[in-house]
Amino acid sequence: MCGIIGITGRDDAVEGIVAGLKRLEYRGYDSAGAVIPDGQQLRAVKRAGKLEEFVHALEGQPMASTCGIGHTRWATHGAPTDRNAHPHLDPTGRVAVVHNGIIENYQLLKAELGDVRFASDTDTEVVAYHVARELDALDTPDLAEAVRRTVRRLKGAFALCFVAIDDPETIVVAKKEAPLIVAHADGVGYCASDVAALIAHTRDVAALLDGQVAVIRPDGLEITDVDGNPAQPHEYTVHWDLEAAEKQGYDSFMLKEIFEQPQAVHDTLLDRHTASEPGAAPALHLDELHIDERELARIDKVFILACGTSLHAGMVGKLAIEHWAGIPVDVEVASEFRYRDPIVDAHTLVIAISQSGETVDTIAAASHARDQRAPVLAICNVVGSTLAREADGVLYTHAGPEVGVAATKTFVTQIVGCLLTGLYLSQVRGRMFATETADILSRLQQMPAAIEQVLELDGEIRELAERYKDTDYTMFIGRHAGLPIAMEGALKLKEISYLHAEAFPAGEMKHGPIALIESGSLVVALAPGGHVFPKMVSNIQEVRARGASVLAIGTDGSAADLKEHADHVLTLPEPTHELATTVLSTVPLQLFAYHVATLRGEDVDKPRNLAKTVTVE
Ligand code: AGP
Repeated sequence: MCGIIGITGRDDAVEGIVAGLKRLEYRGYDSAGAVIPDGQQLRAVKRAGKLEEFVHALEGQPMASTCGIGHTRWATHGAPTDRNAHPHLDPTGRVAVVHNGIIENYQLLKAELGDVRFASDTDTEVVAYHVARELDALDTPDLAEAVRRTVRRLKGAFALCFVAIDDPETIVVAKKEAPLIVAHADGVGYCASDVAALIAHTRDVAALLDGQVAVIRPDGLEITDVDGNPAQPHEYTVHWDLEAAEKQGYDSFMLKEIFEQPQAVHDTLLDRHTASEPGAAPALHLDELHIDERELARIDKVFILACGTSLHAGMVGKLAIEHWAGIPVDVEVASEFRYRDPIVDAHTLVIAISQSGETVDTIAAASHARDQRAPVLAICNVVGSTLAREADGVLYTHAGPEVGVAATKTFVTQIVGCLLTGLYLSQVRGRMFATETADILSRLQQMPAAIEQVLELDGEIRELAERYKDTDYTMFIGRHAGLPIAMEGALKLKEISYLHAEAFPAGEMKHGPIALIESGSLVVALAPGGHVFPKMVSNIQEVRARGASVLAIGTDGSAADLKEHADHVLTLPEPTHELATTVLSTVPLQLFAYHVATLRGEDVDKPRNLAKTVTVE
């Protein structure tokens, strides 16, 4: 989604803005622009298309300045064109704004201005007009005060960033329900939508809280609430570095991130199982959880709320919690949850899963549950993110920065987070002996080595991708723990290759979807060994009898049988636990999607229409 970067106090501010926008590209965008105060005017350059178009447009422009703001836009209101690209200026060219979010009452705000011709179709432009009007109404120009007066009247979600010609070294930002980070280091002030744009300059950052306004100058930051009272943001240190966010020789971030999965899973499991004091039996410790164990012991229902890939991890979480902790679990698309009447109370645990911690649907659903007194546990990858801050407890996945839009390593670590949560709930409710928990944990510790083995299938998977890259329609089927992985496999293939792909519970095929199968269809069947394996074999036979080619994902124990029924079998090492299979069987599906997409010439890191961080409803 839209990316914002602001810099003040650097001789090469424009270069810094371009570099910052490059770091924000992964969020997804369709145009880019920047504005700098230059003498007596605000000079704006903006272009639809990739960042290169914008950089090309900058060439030859007198853009020397110590201050400026830049933006990558992901279109919501108005097509992705030059005129709708940010920044937007008021008609006198006195104030410029860039924005991430949606101003819901923009029509009303436009109507208040009377018969004015707007230069764009966006919901953002009107904000610059109102700030300019507030500036005119003040005895002495004060951009921060004009912004505060304006944002008090805005409805919707926004991270807004302004510059004005009256005070050309000052940037003012305001935030509500969209992320905004500010920082100050070595005489330079910064703001950005996320830390990826700032880590080249500083790791000590502050996330603004809802309703806060920051004034950013070369000599420091000043943060207030919307009424001008001093306010405290959430300050933290970023622990990953620039190198972790680089491609390190891989062709794409996605491929690099797929190959980082053994490490990511290892890091997420690290130090979770220790004795609290010398001599005591080791127990599972989720130190960041901060939800009282007695409260968790009283829980009689769990809701898992998430979107997209995170939702699929949540489906594995349901199996783990019901199996180990014996608590009923519902998994729900976060964007649906708050628009019905979910039965939630203080005995309901809500688990909100989000890689970014900034997905507005998930944040809103979690906050709806909290309003009804339900404790909220976030499973999240980004330290200091909005969801992590607002939840009662957090289980951080330690996947490191994920730049590719398609979630890969964060998905498998979310599964690990869900397994740990299931075991922990079982522990606090006394459902298993400590030795049983320890045994399962030690078996989970073997996952990183097993993922390494699965990654060795890469060459074989590339050959399969070569063969099936032009298949228009692929169906993924699975049962039990295989179903969420089938769904994730279909999502991965469609989001980066733009080919049609769907997933079904294998047992549902005969109730309708099997009508789609014809000669030339490809069916990917999740068929590791386990209690549903014989049923999967029957379902594979049904689709094969109707002409489908079957690519089966099996395990050492099931592969020999599968070879009789499937056209191709990818054999995974025997899992150390049935639910841990989910982590292993995800990997070949990621690689298959990756190779199909790259063989078709698609940009896997920045798939069309998609954004890494979805900050609008
Ligand atoms: C997955 O590849 C997608 N990028 C998308 O479905 C993503 O998982 C979803 O938007 C949720 O994001 P979150 O985990 O950051 O909340």
